[in-house]
Amino acid sequence: MGGMLDKVAGVVYGADYNPEQWDRATWAADLELMRQAGVNLVNVGIFSWAELEPCLGEYRFEWLDDVLDALAAAGIFVNLANATATPPPWFSTCYPEALPVLADGSRLWPGARQAFCPSSPVYREHALRITRLIAERYAEHPALVMWHVSNEIGGRNALCYCDESAAAFRKWLEVRYGTLDELNRAWGTTFWGQRYSEWTQLLPPRRAPTFGNPTHDLDFRRFSSDACLDIYRAERDVIRAVTPDIPVTTNIIPNHRDLDYWRWAPEVDVIAADHYLKAHDPEAHIELALTADVARGLAAGEPWMLMEHSTSAVNWQPRNIAKQPGEMIRNSLQHVARGADSVMFFQWRASRFGAEKYHSAMVPHAGTDSKVWKEVVELGGILSRLHDVVETTLEADVALIFDYESRWALETGSHPTVDVTYLDRVAPLYRATWDSGITVDVVSPDAELTGYKMVLVPSLYITRESTAARIDQFVTAGGHAIVTYMSGIVDEYLHIHPGPHPGAMRDWLGVWVEEFFPLRAGEQVGLDDDSQVEVWTEMLRLDGATPVTTYKDGPLPGVPAVTRHDHGEGTVWYMATRLEDDATARLVNQALKVAGIKPPIPMVTAPSGLEVTRRRGDSGCFLFLINHGSETAHVLAKGHDLVADTAINGRLSLLPGRVAVIQEEAP
Ligand code: GAL
Repeated sequence: MGGMLDKVAGVVYGADYNPEQWDRATWAADLELMRQAGVNLVNVGIFSWAELEPCLGEYRFEWLDDVLDALAAAGIFVNLANATATPPPWFSTCYPEALPVLADGSRLWPGARQAFCPSSPVYREHALRITRLIAERYAEHPALVMWHVSNEIGGRNALCYCDESAAAFRKWLEVRYGTLDELNRAWGTTFWGQRYSEWTQLLPPRRAPTFGNPTHDLDFRRFSSDACLDIYRAERDVIRAVTPDIPVTTNIIPNHRDLDYWRWAPEVDVIAADHYLKAHDPEAHIELALTADVARGLAAGEPWMLMEHSTSAVNWQPRNIAKQPGEMIRNSLQHVARGADSVMFFQWRASRFGAEKYHSAMVPHAGTDSKVWKEVVELGGILSRLHDVVETTLEADVALIFDYESRWALETGSHPTVDVTYLDRVAPLYRATWDSGITVDVVSPDAELTGYKMVLVPSLYITRESTAARIDQFVTAGGHAIVTYMSGIVDEYLHIHPGPHPGAMRDWLGVWVEEFFPLRAGEQVGLDDDSQVEVWTEMLRLDGATPVTTYKDGPLPGVPAVTRHDHGEGTVWYMATRLEDDATARLVNQALKVAGIKPPIPMVTAPSGLEVTRRRGDSGCFLFLINHGSETAHVLAKGHDLVADTAINGRLSLLPGRVAVIQEEAP
């Protein structure tokens, strides 16, 4: 891993390892099985605080000493947790004030995990204390190559409305606004008579009689994400002071709703992401690809770690669907295809007890005579052949602007319709590029766009002037953009940009909106290309753009639904309505054609469901082909397929469900 875990050669392979759930005979068996699978890294101690400190100030480190010594002796490296993910029962009994509080004022109880307020001073005090003890005790341990701070910080407790959070929120607001006048202006408190005259009047947006102030809500979400980041930073800094040369990270959930990971990315030494398939989604592999691309975006294009995924079913969805034969390997290699230099799972051995005893693992309850174990060993073999892939990167012509804040803002408070949600337009735009074999870099609204040929802008509700200006310059200079409705509407304080919508983008989109016309639940409107739209329409007025399609019926017959504007040297497309996925794909393909963007390889036949990426670097070029579809794909390629370990002499036929990673010959 590019200097990050330099003792660990090749692709990192392993899992969360929870030996505290098992006897010592099982530990010995585990080490032998890890050797068989080719495991080279395990995450240890994530939920072990209560095992290490069963009573306040009473420590039991010996078992962990033994585990780490045994791992070191077996040549397996450790990403060691600081154990703060779940405080022990004694902590919640002594300090009930640290338990999180919901917006309605009710306090959550201990008994699960993550039952703490991220802003709690007493949680921080004890978390830093145990962190320091662990860091000092294991600083020199030969197995230690990385630190794992907490676990999915804020994953279940990001939003806490308690009095400690209120105090921290006030401080955060003082830093952000300086004066109450500034805050009152930003929050628009003249509306509904909300002017604050003392800082002490400010509270988290607790449950109120009706809609709260939207900027108050948004700032609380920003604060909450920052509060989680702050406790991460504090734990990290304790560790860094003890072991300045060992990388520190925390595992994130890239598509999590409560955290703005663009702000986290610079604070971790390596992006470590968790991903679980949405079992109800027949095309869950496309959502996987998007999430992996978000992780790569957070890593600024550099390799990242897949810290957790599952070998088969999870335990926490309503129906936990087992993976089909071959699906786990496809999923794992998909992450690698999209820039991961590690493949790790939750967890090593399936638990016999506890809330996740039905969750799959590398060693299932069924033991080694099982599909899962055989694939775990097979995957280990494949990964060992992918060592040169490590540190290579992907190249993309297309960027997709992804904004956690716009998601918060669009999905809280009152809007023209409840049916406009953020990912709703991200997914089909992404999917259209995925279907065409086009790699997309997911970027923040502050990202530099130079170097890309196209930018996708789904529902960028909050648009800062600087972002709008950057897209404008990008298009003026010859770039291509696709923008969907509910973009460019408000500034970072949620004030509507002056003049007709979309105020921040109107000039270069070549359109303006006279009035929004959201549709009734289930209502469909026809377009002149015979496709149907739903959810959203707008009384669009042209100012330089030309119509691509218009409404045939519904509230706005004859009004443009999709437009094209040749602006400067480039082109910008505007989707003023919620197109069907096929119509979205047609438009994206038209725009890709105009922009001259092509997939990375020539196909002989390109059945749907073939995923293609290329990683490139000093060690060579690696073409990843993953056939999620039901037909054989025929591809022109030359090199060595590292999955099947065979030469490819010009043409490859890839059966449904199979993966090839071709180390390409230099041209
Ligand atoms: C993750 C979590 C793990 C485990 C896993 C189960 O969100 O970090 O500890 O619970 O889910 O899928």
